[in-house]
Amino acid sequence: MIGTLGLEPHFEGGYFRRTYQADHRELLETLSGPRYLMTSIYYLLDQQSPVGQFHFNRSDILHYFHLGDAIEYSLIHANGSLHTLVMGSDILSGHLLQLHVPGGVWKASRLLDGEYGFGLISEAVSPGFDFADMEMGNRKKLIAAYPQHRALIEKLTRGED
Ligand code: GUN
Repeated sequence: MIGTLGLEPHFEGGYFRRTYQADHRELLETLSGPRYLMTSIYYLLDQQSPVGQFHFNRSDILHYFHLGDAIEYSLIHANGSLHTLVMGSDILSGHLLQLHVPGGVWKASRLLDGEYGFGLISEAVSPGFDFADMEMGNRKKLIAAYPQHRALIEKLTRGED
């Protein structure tokens, strides 16, 4: 799957490839600078890299589930509220095919056990993805901000510090 889709390791964990950027349109002037109107990626988690670590993005992101096992999303909002959602194909049991994550939310994802050993989604990001708009979750800082979610944060961040 990784080879067929031409995916590469993502620094959050998982694998990705940018599939689209709106370079036929004028850039959007945002408070953080010019951005594509929209960008899109494939994103895959597998058993070798089953976690997308907590990170923050200023842009809105629409997620579309495609194939494989379900993926659990943990979203921590600025007020500290935690939302846990599952993307997957079993819509009768409540899996989501689409998930909208507004800008300003801390997000992590985790592959759930299943028969495929991978889960594949797409993300559409608007304003388009830019490294300046995202921040990787620092374990200590996140726990200090949201101590009620310590166990989850420890599971879904890298513990280098
Ligand atoms: N996350 C969502 N979109 C992108 C993208 O285009 N590039 C990278 N590196 N990460 C993303």
